[in-house]
Amino acid sequence: MILVTGGAGYIGSHTVIELLNHNYQVVIVDNLCNSSEVILDRIKKITDKNFKFYNIDVTQKDELKKVFEENHIDSIIHFAALKAVGESVLKPLEYYKNNLVGALTLFELMKEYNVNNFVFSSSATVYGNSKICPIREDFQLSTTNPYGATKLMIEDVMRDLSKANENLNLAILRYFNPIGAHISGIIGEEPNGIPNNLMPYITKVATGTLTELSIFGDDYNTHDGTGVRDYIHVVDLAKGHLKALQKLEQNPGLITYNLGTGQGYSVLDLVKVFEEVNNIEIPYKITSRRPGDIDMCYADPTKAFIELGWTAEYGIERMCQDSWRWQRNNPYGYEKEDHFLDMGTC
Ligand code: NAD
Ligand code: UD1
Repeated sequence: MILVTGGAGYIGSHTVIELLNHNYQVVIVDNLCNSSEVILDRIKKITDKNFKFYNIDVTQKDELKKVFEENHIDSIIHFAALKAVGESVLKPLEYYKNNLVGALTLFELMKEYNVNNFVFSSSATVYGNSKICPIREDFQLSTTNPYGATKLMIEDVMRDLSKANENLNLAILRYFNPIGAHISGIIGEEPNGIPNNLMPYITKVATGTLTELSIFGDDYNTHDGTGVRDYIHVVDLAKGHLKALQKLEQNPGLITYNLGTGQGYSVLDLVKVFEEVNNIEIPYKITSRRPGDIDMCYADPTKAFIELGWTAEYGIERMCQDSWRWQRNNPYGYEKEDHFLDMGTC
């Protein structure tokens, strides 16, 4: 049985689908603080498979214990976390408490219930302001905000746990920029309020909910002056988790991988591809830089390819098509079920 914390979230829900499609038994723990129960029905609709769900906060040890009592957990994939960089600067305590206590509680329960396999959602944010691209796993680590600090601290805890207990098999997966959605168009990313990240902002402009995209700076040291990132399809990312789980079964101890495509695209590149493949115009204006942004960030994904046999399959065109299919079918996210029934494409 695989315990997936945060399994109702954006990356978690796509990973649960991959797990179910590969006949894993899944139990989801999510307190739905950034997701909706509707997602659970949609996962069932896509996979035609069942799974267990507990509406529990992972920081609440007594409640979480119940999950370990009632299920035989072999491995854990830990997605549950707060993830908005800007919000973490305004509410550091919430971020440290939720993200750190959640992970520490799971580590304690792993010890109590003899669970040895753990996969952690880390982020390219742990590379800080790396001046060199592509970024390898052995680059220096640093962070610039409380969200990133929680990721780096949990990684540090994992490194120490691994040194102290050779039975533990721990995977650190550092995601680059996940976008896209399941091909069905019935699950996808739906941030609360005005999106901070680029793709959800573009799709909200495409639906007409937002009037125009602000491109944060065109004077970066990149081919067209706008920021370059490594966008990865969320389904490719989800598949990386299955590969990591399989690797953990070989008792490797601590393993760390970048999950990215190795390709960098600028903001303008992404806007152009989105417009072309979806035949829709995205009005934009160039504004000043967003504080803290860097010129360029893309992965060297060679290690994951060699050691996990994992590589990203979907290109930027498919990412743009799938993001738009999801948002077009669900302009109000998961809240308006009626609309989904009219437009659902599954
Ligand atoms: P998400 O917000 O869609 O999913 C997180 C899920 O965790 C949500 O369903 C939320 O309700 C749940 N959750 C949060 N705190 C919880 C708690 N205390 N107890 C139980 N459930 C809780 O986010 P996502 O984009 O799917 O991200 C998943 C993981 O990947 C996070 O750890 C995030 O930091 C990491 N990550 C995300 C990105 C990205 O760009 N999306 C990039 C790098 C790393
Ligand atoms: C964000 C997170 C980072 C996380 C990464 C991967 C922030 C500040 N950082 O990084 O911690 O590891 O996602 O998921 O949220 N842009 C615009 N206009 C917009 C939005 C973005 O021009 O409205 C530009 C940005 O300047 C950047 C690019 O688009 O060049 C991508 O931005 P975004 O989607 O927010 O991701 P990152 O900043 O890479």
